Amino acid sequence: MKKQVLDAEEIFQSRLERHHDELRWLYMEMYDNSSMFAELCDNLKQFYLKRNKELKISDLKREQDHGWYQQNDMLGMMFYIDNFAGNMKGVEAKLDYLEKCKVNYVHLMPFLDTPPDRSDGGYAVSDFRKVQKKLGSMKDLDSLTAACHKKGINVCMDFVMNHTSEDHEWAKKARQGDGEYMSRYFFFDNEEEPAMYEKTVPQVFPTTAPGNFTWLEEEGYYVMTTFYPYQWDLNYKNPRVFNEMMYNFLYLANRGIDIIRIDAVPYIWKELNTSCRNLKQVHTIVRMMRMIGEIVCPGILLLGEVVMEPEKVTPYFGTVEKPECHMLYNVTTMATTWHTVATRDVKLLKKQLDIVNSLPKEYIFLNYLRCHDDIGWGLDYGTLMLEGMGERSHKQYLNDYFLGFAGESNSRGELYNADPVTGDARFCGTTASMCGIEKAGESKDKEAMERAVRFDLMLHAYMFMQSGIPVLYSGDEIGQLNDYTYKDDPNKAADSRYIHRGAMNWKLAEKIKDADTTEGKIFQGLSRLEEIRKSEKVFVSNADAWTIETWDQSILGIGRYFEDEKIIGLFNFSEYDKTAWINETDGGYVDLISGEELRPVDVKIPAYGFYYLKRK
Ligand code: GLC
Repeated sequence: MKKQVLDAEEIFQSRLERHHDELRWLYMEMYDNSSMFAELCDNLKQFYLKRNKELKISDLKREQDHGWYQQNDMLGMMFYIDNFAGNMKGVEAKLDYLEKCKVNYVHLMPFLDTPPDRSDGGYAVSDFRKVQKKLGSMKDLDSLTAACHKKGINVCMDFVMNHTSEDHEWAKKARQGDGEYMSRYFFFDNEEEPAMYEKTVPQVFPTTAPGNFTWLEEEGYYVMTTFYPYQWDLNYKNPRVFNEMMYNFLYLANRGIDIIRIDAVPYIWKELNTSCRNLKQVHTIVRMMRMIGEIVCPGILLLGEVVMEPEKVTPYFGTVEKPECHMLYNVTTMATTWHTVATRDVKLLKKQLDIVNSLPKEYIFLNYLRCHDDIGWGLDYGTLMLEGMGERSHKQYLNDYFLGFAGESNSRGELYNADPVTGDARFCGTTASMCGIEKAGESKDKEAMERAVRFDLMLHAYMFMQSGIPVLYSGDEIGQLNDYTYKDDPNKAADSRYIHRGAMNWKLAEKIKDADTTEGKIFQGLSRLEEIRKSEKVFVSNADAWTIETWDQSILGIGRYFEDEKIIGLFNFSEYDKTAWINETDGGYVDLISGEELRPVDVKIPAYGFYYLKRK
């Protein structure tokens, strides 16, 4: 290993050679600018040379072990640094807790510099090379990533490449009328062009930030702002933008980041008369990014944030010969899961899982129940329509259900960006609150609490059964509830996503050892699931996975098979005790949770209960 590291330039050259022709081809196709391409290549080398020895060693190892992240030992957790532990040093001091959670992948939510009053949760970056003061410094980040690596924890961060904050140096110069910087954004001195875009471009935040353009009164220009008015869209038609953003990406990768989450990636290319989503140039850019990563820092993974309808998501994996992202969020499965919660009908979820299970096994999905964002009801309405469920009325039902108004629901939460024109709305809340833990706690109803906790664990157990990487949303491991205090903060009050972005309650976390408490029950229940997942090889990503017909509309059955081992998961999504009418006669089975021996024939499952049955 040492000798190889010493031969550093040779390694770089061979990596560059592997990708050079394709990279150049794509770059010239996009920009037709060979001097900018030469500049890019020079900089790749500089970033490679600056990469530290530990990271280079890890790169070499990972290059030889392509599937390092596709095993059954990965478990993620995502959190805001300030909510979790105040600042970066605080996180470093809490690594023991993360180890207790068996987490080996942490997603540090946006921590780069951002104006506190116009931050969109940190997604409006004003300096890609500076950490928010209250969270620490780049030195603290270096120290945190090194400490994580010592414990075998991978670090993920957001790379917000679609836009910058209006306080970014480029935006400030553009405001002053500097043409060089104006060309890094989309500026219009007339209303016609923005109006033409608006005809075909949907809105991301129809209530909190309507429209896709912002009028700059003093300057007399419109600027494109797909998200909030203070988030200015970058113009990737300008090669300077592409190059500089790649340098930022590599700078951050060199801080010891293992997983780069490419924020809002479908939006990065704009074209008049299109939806400005998922355009083919987006794929070219991601492909170039993948190659750039493989040349400079092949140990890192690209995680695409593609919150789109299913057929738009998988193309971001690219092809076997020309891969793009290493990992994507399993967003449709997540939304369909909550649909199943509200309807107690697993039909659509089964169909969705069948689709995912039929995809190539190299496609690695991140599975999750909740994250920092709202739940958008991106479901397969074509199929639901056949059952007589209209899109608008069904969304209304789902929102009413989770608000706690309809369908004998125990959920609590709030709507997000309710659009008065389309009648559309998304939903916010924590897993625990949406499972009824908040309501049961308020009414001090012990039985309801027990059921809600079982529900919460069943959902996690089902999520863990899917192929890919499970990611917990921090606080979910102790059943944290909605936090309504965001309403007192004028910078947050209009954005209900803050309801599930509360600070970690460390007082409650102290109870995890006590199995009589809600926190203890959830934490210990999850711990057991995590142990099972890490020790049973049927959970590797390339195992066979399929759904099982249970002949009960509320019970989902999932099978997994790998090297002669087989496991069956049964999950009851209803508040009634039910029977899974299955008949697996290929041997005796044991429930991995209780140790009970079972014949998987007509299995009785308590309300919101589940089984992990392993063939003996
Ligand atoms: C992503 C983030 C979201 C943010 C948006 C704009 O979708 O997950 O929180 O508002 O990008 O950057």
